[in-house]
Amino acid sequence: GSLLAALPRLPKAELHLHVEGTLEPELAFALAERNGVALPYPDVAALRAAYDFADLQSFLDLYYACMPVLRTTEDFHDLTAAYLERSHRDGVVHAELFVDLQVHLANGIGADDVLDGMTRALAGARAARGTTGGIILSIVRDSPVATAHAALDAVAHRIHDLVGIGLDSAEVGYPPSLFVEVFDRAAALGLHRVAHAGEEGPPAYVVEAVELLGVERVDHGIRAVEDDALVALLVERGIPLTVCPLSNLRLRAVPDLAAHPIRALVDAGVAVTVNSDDPAYFGGYAGANYAVLVELGFTAPEFARLAATSVRASFTDDARKAELL
Ligand code: HPA
Ligand code: ZN
Repeated sequence: GSLLAALPRLPKAELHLHVEGTLEPELAFALAERNGVALPYPDVAALRAAYDFADLQSFLDLYYACMPVLRTTEDFHDLTAAYLERSHRDGVVHAELFVDLQVHLANGIGADDVLDGMTRALAGARAARGTTGGIILSIVRDSPVATAHAALDAVAHRIHDLVGIGLDSAEVGYPPSLFVEVFDRAAALGLHRVAHAGEEGPPAYVVEAVELLGVERVDHGIRAVEDDALVALLVERGIPLTVCPLSNLRLRAVPDLAAHPIRALVDAGVAVTVNSDDPAYFGGYAGANYAVLVELGFTAPEFARLAATSVRASFTDDARKAELL
């Protein structure tokens, strides 16, 4: 009722969002036609019907299969602009967007085409609606580490167009410890550091992300709940988690909503934020990810706290934070 109606009015920051994961099937087919690229599905309905995932890898296979439709500056602009406009209706006033640049480089796209399109869309959203945001270079952890360095090389000449470095894709078998040099380089370039850890991987990967990569936020991080000492560490250091409830359900990181650790993490005092991850694929944007928590008994003051935590956990400046809090 009124609780649900109030959620979109809470100003919130979206901190865990893969721009390629906002590719709606309709846009995928429009871009495929515009660029003369084939998708491995005959039509929108067939593509949407494939959104039935068993785990992270089964999603990633489809997610990467759709990426070749993204080719030009215009494509990256249109994708980013559509997301910023859609999420604004859910109260997203600040958004930090991951981009899997290594995949686009491998597809023969230039780093400048990707970043030009995204920065133009961010500037447009700021002018039109006052939305602020930034871009996080997300390292694709199951690609060779040399390609991660190559992606950093490709953006070094315009490092101020990025706000941070991240780490995503297939987690198990690709621990954060493989990326210490990449993250050290990124930190030296002035980038903030975040990493996906503890989505499917063990709590030890969350510890590595914190202790070896020096991350300021952990993406997902839900399996931290299995390790009391780790939960205490996250609380003590004030390291936020960017939790994505619908993603966890759709990728079966949790068996059902009742089993989701978000309630336990919040109650333990962890700085939890709510995000949509890959909204085109997981059945909802930021608003839907907040709304599903009503079923877990989250109250109006708790929703206000989640939204405020997202603003505090963002990488925007103190003046903008003060404006949003
Ligand atoms: N986990 C890992 N890699 C990803 C995800 C995710 O949820 N979304 C896009 N790439
Ligand atoms: Zn993610």
